[in-house]
Parts: sequence; structure tokens; C-alpha cells
Amino acid sequence: MGAVTQWFNDLTQWFNDRAPGLGVAYKKHLSEYYAPKNFNFMYYFGSLALLVLVNQIVTGIFLTMFYTPTASGAFDSVQYIMRDVHWGWLVRYMHETGASMFFIVVYLHMFRGLMYGSYKKPRELVWLLGMLIFLALMAEAFMGYVLPWGNMSFWGAKVIITLFSAVPVVGEQLVTWIMGSFVPSDPTLNRFFALHVVAMPLVLLLLVVLHLGALHEVGSNNPDGVEIKKHKGPDGRPLDGIPFHPYYTVKDLFGVGVFLVICAIVIFFEPTVGGFFLEHDNSIPANDLVTPASIKPVWYFSPFYAILRMIPSKGFGVLALLASIVALFLVPWLDCGKVKSIRYRGLGYKVALTIFAIVFVLLAAIGADLTPGWIVDIFGPNADITSIENLFGRTLVVLYFGYFVFLWAYTFFGWEKTKPVPERVTTHD
Ligand code: HEM
Repeated sequence: MGAVTQWFNDLTQWFNDRAPGLGVAYKKHLSEYYAPKNFNFMYYFGSLALLVLVNQIVTGIFLTMFYTPTASGAFDSVQYIMRDVHWGWLVRYMHETGASMFFIVVYLHMFRGLMYGSYKKPRELVWLLGMLIFLALMAEAFMGYVLPWGNMSFWGAKVIITLFSAVPVVGEQLVTWIMGSFVPSDPTLNRFFALHVVAMPLVLLLLVVLHLGALHEVGSNNPDGVEIKKHKGPDGRPLDGIPFHPYYTVKDLFGVGVFLVICAIVIFFEPTVGGFFLEHDNSIPANDLVTPASIKPVWYFSPFYAILRMIPSKGFGVLALLASIVALFLVPWLDCGKVKSIRYRGLGYKVALTIFAIVFVLLAAIGADLTPGWIVDIFGPNADITSIENLFGRTLVVLYFGYFVFLWAYTFFGWEKTKPVPERVTTHD
């Protein structure tokens, strides 16, 4: 045995003698966590989400060292980080690119769940905890966006916090209570800072631990949607499972490599991504007398913002916004089908999920004031652009909710014609 191996074994033994639970946890979650052997690239996004979470926390700590959470100092402190602090620009761009990458990765991670029915029994709790993470992530991103105190920070905060006035009876008081004032100002910035750097990261970390704990109790799903625990060898290990470590730790490292190259390209060559990752209006200091030409959220909120905006009444708009997220929470119960993976589901499901994904992207475009030009062109040069945008946007809102209604009816009334599901996972080797 080599000296290094001997040293490593002694060290492991030292820890095991003092904290035997560590070895048990290592086995349960890594070396003896049997994951299906047929994971495809859609299974990279969970570990990538973990990576981005760590990036946000580490870069966030360094930003906090130089940031000033006051209405008079916040904007300048961010400029100071960008221009004077050594490597400050890199840390800020890593944090800002990380925020958008977080949502890209999480949206793909959620889409994978819909594709392979990972929300179905026995993983409903994994899905519900995932949805709570999603809510916490939206709150965390919104509050982070307010901190640089650019003009869009100010007006975005004003528009979004004012939505709470739609709550019956106590709405107006609620808005003042959240802002700590009558307009977004010092108290708003102070509390958002506290929540953004301390409270929400703790909540996110806790939820992620619970999310993975819940997953490891029942085991991972896979692209075939078959339960590998049904077929175990004489040693009690799933025949179609392989230890997460080293097999998937090494495979995930490849995903990490590709992902980091993409992030580096964004950070070093196009950090604002044409105003999508970092809006131009946020390079102007907050000014309560100058409203930006169009107040719109960052791209990752825009599908939900479009749903809010397309409903003419504020009360119903807020209700639709809430419903669009509640519907996602309810997916495990709306889908009554027995087959998990899209590979063996009926044509109706495949078509509906494809339309849902396209509708989500188009809603994002509408919410970001980017109605596709060809839609307007169809109606000729003299068309009333606002009514066309409204018609198009409202059709998308109906299609968004239509997905959930269809999913329920299609599976509840037994209209779905599924294909036979294989007993064991399929691989292409
Ligand atoms: C910070 C955000 C998140 C992190 C760090 C995270 C992490 C992970 C990891 C590491 C896995 C196991 C590897 C994998 O299956 O890809 C996983 C599985 C899963 N996650 Fe997440 N997740 C996050 C957000 C979400 C959200 C928002 C949802 C959906 C609402 C979700 C739903 C699921 C489901 C259903 C599984 C099981 C997938 C399967 O076994 O097929 N997660 N998550």
C-alpha cells in the first residue's frame, strides 16, 4: 500500500472513531447510493444547480464586503466594486451571470421532472420541496435585484411590492409594512439586504438538504420511469443501479466542465447578454421622478409577469399569477396517469408538453416586451399593436392553464393510450 493511501486510510479511520455517523452518511448518500445506470444529460441539472448555489453564496460573501446597503450609498458602492476593487468586476459578473444561470438550470431541471414523471408517486415530496425551492429562489432573486439601487431596482420594487395592495382589506397597509415606508427607500433596502444575504440563503440551503434527503429515501427516477428497486440482486443491490460515487460524481464533472465554459464565455465576452442578464436601465441610479420607458423584470420572471399583465384587472391578474405557480405545485395530483416517462406516454401528452414549453418561452418574450415581429406583421402595417399583443398574450395565458386542465382530463378520463413500459431500464450500449 502506498504511503498516501495509508495516510488517507488512517485519516478516515481517525474520523470514523470519533464521528461514525459521517461514514454512514457518506455511504448512504454517495458510495452506496444506487442511482439508475441510464441517466441522460437531463440529469446534469440537479448537480449544476448545487454548483450555482455554492457560487452565489461564495461570490455573494465577497460582494457583501464592499457593498453599502443605503439608498445614498448602494449604487456608488456597486460602481466602486466594478471599477476599483481588485477583481470586483469578476466577482460581480459571476454573481449576476450566476443568477440567470441558476434559473436556466432550474427551469431545465423542472422540465426534466415533467418529461420523466419524476413528480409521481413516490416522489411527490421531492417535487413539492423543489417547488418551495423555486419560490424561495424567486424571492431571493427579486430582493437581490433591488440591492444595486439602479432605476429598474427602484421601479421594479415599487411595482412588485405594490401588487400586495390587491390583498382585500389590509392591502394598502401591507404594502407600507413591506416597504417600511411609502416608497421604496432606506428601510426597504435594509430589510431586503438582510433577507437576501442571511435569511433566504439559509432557507434555500435547508430546503435543498430536505429535497435531496427526500430523494435519497425513495431513490432517483430515470428516463425510462421504471423503479430500479423492484429488481434487486442476491446482495440486495438494485440490478440496474450503480453507486453514485464514483460513477456519477465523475460523469457530473464532465457536465460541470461544459457548463463552466459556457459561463466563462458569458462572463468574459457578453456579461449583460444584450440587457437580458443585466438590464441597461439598472446602470442608471434610482430616481423616483424618472420612470423607465418600460418597466419589465429580468427575463426569468417575465413568463409570470406576462400572465399578470395580460389580465386587465389588477386583482384577477395577481390571482392568475398565483394560480400559475399553484398549478405547478399540484402537478403530481393533476396527472392521474400511471406511466411516468414521456417515452411510453400517449401522443397527447407529448404534444401538450411540447406546446407548454413553447408557450412558456413565448410568454417570457411577451413579458420582456418582445412580441415576435411576425405576429404583428400578419395584421399589416396599420394594425393596432397593443390589441394584437393582448390577443396573442391572452391566447398564451389560456394555453398555459390549458396544459394543466388537459393533463388532468386526459389522464383522469382514461383517454391516454400508453405504450408498454419495460421491466428493466433500457441502455444504448
Ligand atoms: C436550488 C435548486 C435545486 C437544487 C440544488 C436541486 C438539486 C437536485 C439534485 C442534486 C437532484 C438529484 C440529481 C438529479 O436528479 O438531477 C435533484 C432531483 C430532483 N429535483 Fe431538484 N433541485 C433544485 C430545484 C428543484 C426544483 C425547482 C424542482 C421542481 C419543482 C425540483 C425537482 C426535482 C425532482 C422531481 C428530482 C428527482 C428527479 C428524478 O429522480 O428523476 N428540483 N434535485
